[in-house]
Amino acid sequence: MSNILVTGGAGYIGSHVVKELLRQSHHPIIFDNLQTGHRKAVKDALFIEGDLSDPEKLKETFQTHAIDAVIHFAANSLVGESVQKPLKYFDNNVKNSIKLIEIIKEFGINKLVFSSSAAVYGEPQEIPITEDHPCSPTNPYGETKWIFEKVLRAYHDEGILNFISLRYFNAAGADPERELGEDHSPESHLIPLVIKAALDGTSVPVYGTDYNTPDGTCIRDYIHVTDLADAHILALRKLEQKKFSGIYNMGNGNGYSVREVIETVKKVAGREVKAVESPRRPGDPARLVASSEKIREELGWAPQYPDMKTIVETAWEWHRNHPNGYDDIGMAQSA
Ligand code: UFG
Repeated sequence: MSNILVTGGAGYIGSHVVKELLRQSHHPIIFDNLQTGHRKAVKDALFIEGDLSDPEKLKETFQTHAIDAVIHFAANSLVGESVQKPLKYFDNNVKNSIKLIEIIKEFGINKLVFSSSAAVYGEPQEIPITEDHPCSPTNPYGETKWIFEKVLRAYHDEGILNFISLRYFNAAGADPERELGEDHSPESHLIPLVIKAALDGTSVPVYGTDYNTPDGTCIRDYIHVTDLADAHILALRKLEQKKFSGIYNMGNGNGYSVREVIETVKKVAGREVKAVESPRRPGDPARLVASSEKIREELGWAPQYPDMKTIVETAWEWHRNHPNGYDDIGMAQSA
């Protein structure tokens, strides 16, 4: 049982991790500016509204709570926006994150789990991608995640901090107990957009149908958000057991094409989906599939929801019951 500071804990992945921390009798302390997160997603946890750029608020948080470890999600994470506004990404994801570890250091905390991304790899040379695949990010978002991993490595090498960095592939699905789900505004991810199209009859663009893949559309490795949450708990446990730092891919090792995802949603929803063949989205690699052997072997991670149908079923349940996301959760339920 320990006090875990979760920056960005009100976001999609963060809130699922917070739920798992509570279930395992830890005390999460959420620090989130609510720019993209939702207060209603973390109703049972201690919540502090604050921004990483505010060192005083962060210090006050460390002074008030005896924090044992940090899980660091808070970041900007839109690939397209990062291309338009790179400085915003370097400023928040790198500069503010370094300020955070300086404060962590000041308070003598030496355990951190970091939310990284498959975007560090760029266009893959080999599939499945292992952790020693060269990193060559193709957008500023991926650059910032890669740079910050290098910063963490330097802190580790100087004996200041032990860290585990989890490189997420495509986080998807929703809490199987139906309390939490994906609520981005604007939404850019495939599964919620296809589900929206199934629900309200709008159409979904298929970005590129001429890729060198069996059906011509891009292939991704979708990982259930609850399985991703489990990995954070295992990572914390590992950091508690030994002085150690490591980087792990987080995927299932199975690739699904855009068309396969659409077909699965159609089956699960029992509805038609209008899919419109559209030009390629700039910067999309044809295939991204992880090898997650390392985390299975070293941390004992084993996904409970690896198949696409289950991932889509949980997402469908959430969106069907919350077409307006967390806005559909009334005060009676959130009290
Ligand atoms: N896609 C469509 N239509 C849509 C939305 C997406 O065809 O309306 C396609 C994309 O072109 C892509 C696939 O569906 O081929 C998945 O797209 P997402 O936007 O859901 O996810 P990405 O693979 O682009 O991005 C994810 C994470 C990023 C991370 C990246 C790593 O969301 O944070 O993986 O490469 F950086």
